[in-house]
Amino acid sequence: MKENNIYFGADYYPEHWPRDRWETDAKLMKEAGFDAVRMAEFSWEKMEPEPGRFCFDWLDEAIAVLDSHGIKTVLGTPSAAPPAWIIEEDPEILPVNNLGIRMGFGGRHHVCMTNKNYRKHITRFVTAMAGHFKDNESVIGWQIDNELGNGHLENDVDIFRTHELCMCEHCRANFQNWLKKKYGTIENLNEAWGTVFWSQTYSDFRQIPAPKITPTSHNPSLLLDWKRFSSDLVIDFQQMQIDVIRGVCPDRFITHNFMGFFDKTDYFRLAENLDFVCHDQYPCGFWADDVAPVSDLAAALDLTRGFKDKPFWIMEQQAGPAGWETFGRTPRPGQLRLWTAQSVARGADAIFYFRWRTCLFGTEQYWHGVLPHRGVPGRRYDEIKQTVAQLRPVMEKIRGVKDRADAAILFSYEQNWALEIQPHHPDLDYISQVKKYHKYFCDKNIPVDFISAETDFSGYRLLIAPLQFLSFDGVAEKLKTYVSNGGHLVLTMRTGVKNENNVCLSDAPLPGSFGELTGVEILDYDCLREFGVRVSLGDETAGTAQKWCDIIDLNGAEAIARYADEFYKDSPAVTANAYQNGRVYYVGFEPDERLMSAIVDIISAKLGIKPISGAANGVEFVRRSSADGNYYFALNHSDRPAKITPNPGWEAVLGSDTLEPYDVAIFYEKVYNA
Ligand code: GAL
Ligand code: ZN
Repeated sequence: MKENNIYFGADYYPEHWPRDRWETDAKLMKEAGFDAVRMAEFSWEKMEPEPGRFCFDWLDEAIAVLDSHGIKTVLGTPSAAPPAWIIEEDPEILPVNNLGIRMGFGGRHHVCMTNKNYRKHITRFVTAMAGHFKDNESVIGWQIDNELGNGHLENDVDIFRTHELCMCEHCRANFQNWLKKKYGTIENLNEAWGTVFWSQTYSDFRQIPAPKITPTSHNPSLLLDWKRFSSDLVIDFQQMQIDVIRGVCPDRFITHNFMGFFDKTDYFRLAENLDFVCHDQYPCGFWADDVAPVSDLAAALDLTRGFKDKPFWIMEQQAGPAGWETFGRTPRPGQLRLWTAQSVARGADAIFYFRWRTCLFGTEQYWHGVLPHRGVPGRRYDEIKQTVAQLRPVMEKIRGVKDRADAAILFSYEQNWALEIQPHHPDLDYISQVKKYHKYFCDKNIPVDFISAETDFSGYRLLIAPLQFLSFDGVAEKLKTYVSNGGHLVLTMRTGVKNENNVCLSDAPLPGSFGELTGVEILDYDCLREFGVRVSLGDETAGTAQKWCDIIDLNGAEAIARYADEFYKDSPAVTANAYQNGRVYYVGFEPDERLMSAIVDIISAKLGIKPISGAANGVEFVRRSSADGNYYFALNHSDRPAKITPNPGWEAVLGSDTLEPYDVAIFYEKVYNA
């Protein structure tokens, strides 16, 4: 049973409530229109209070109570929170941070993923758990762990903010073996990393450190390999559990809850062996002053859809005000429905709200669920109930179908890591720059996909590949083929700078192996620390270049925008180059929003890439296709009413052309196949 159904539900923790409450919860869930829950992902101690003594009876019972009300179960494996008895047995399961300090028990994610004992415990436990539930018809699938790699580190402890994995001696040895496999000999590694610098040449793999804090900073090549190694470790940790479950319980789905732009793991690869991916969507978490920008929410959903190029599930959709020690804002009336509709519009086939009822104790006692502490349905319950009733019929039509966009943005974890290690400008951030390109499409209501370098590019008319800082032979060739066959490609500043070992290239002027494609040469550049440089399109200033300027010489390309300040005034800032049947644009800087819009407008107009509907202030339009037509979601994110003009041929299935604050309307357009 590899699900292609739609579901609504909640993340449910029956172990937090008396047994005689479960029936009430199940009834209320049913009344809300729910048909699924996720359970047990933090309940190891309840399921195995002592070594080898398994207690699944309470969970059997909870599953049965829920099932009697038509509610199915997704089970989480509890490896994000090993109980105290496991840690007592082997304290080295606790991870070591980059100061070399072993962290303590008392939170969660307190694990070293390399630790052999811990891995044995997981294999042992998950085998028992999967074996126990494998024939239970109410259990539809599995979630591995919970938000792998998310240590929820304290905001104010800067030194821990790197979100690095454990740096214990076992992890270090594991890293050394990983390097041995990659480089074969220590001489190869020395050569690849340039360890001659600062006398770092190694004579044995055993000398190589985990990147603990040093008086200065580490070799960027070592750091990049450490990030790759850490990503591989998380993928391997997940795979270990996938193997167990597939072996014991092969006919249920396996998934994991991802965290959007969280970047410790290459999510494209983490997704590979899962049946589908899930995302956790918290539009106003407790870290933000207010709601995250619409385009940020949209970007996380679009990226999630890209991990497997198909619809996904939301395993945690915000259900109320967020809070640990401090609180986020309270979702205004309408926003829970609005955010749910946005998730569905951008590719979700199932929505689970986090969490069912607000917990009375523990770290998350202020992370509000569908029900308040008292357990009595209120405003949030009512809104979610209405949401389920309104969205379910539409979701029945669109499930499983992924919309096709004309434009795509290439997303690369390795480029991100390399630029995290060396951001150039203190505020330069790969993910933010990529999101700026995405925001253009989101603001204009133009569908766009995030794709990896492995994706077949040929279906896209426009491909934006920001910051191709590291050169990978395969990717450069693939882009060349894409353009030769008629594709339009946007490349940007800091492209073709390094090889994949994070070492600068010197065999050609920048942009290195992209010189022929772009028809430009960059012999000089300028890191803009405290100021921007104006850029003009024709006679008009179109906006400001930020953080960086490539000073571009034309070598076959034409200039479509020029710098208006500095010693490089009038030199090309954006160029276009005809290459075989396609066209390559080069943007030599990070554009501000106005400039971004001016540049991408020119490019998309040439390709006839159009918004799916006319703009209306604060209203997001998203399309999702079905077998027999398109559904258009109009999402009013603003606190004011909005009037929209539906396209001719759109028939309202929910709401109308007048949207209240935070309102949602859905339109259907029949598509006649020729
Ligand atoms: C998520 C996590 C949940 C819960 C929630 C609220 O990141 O998966 O287990 O902690 O945040 O803090
Ligand atoms: Zn470790």
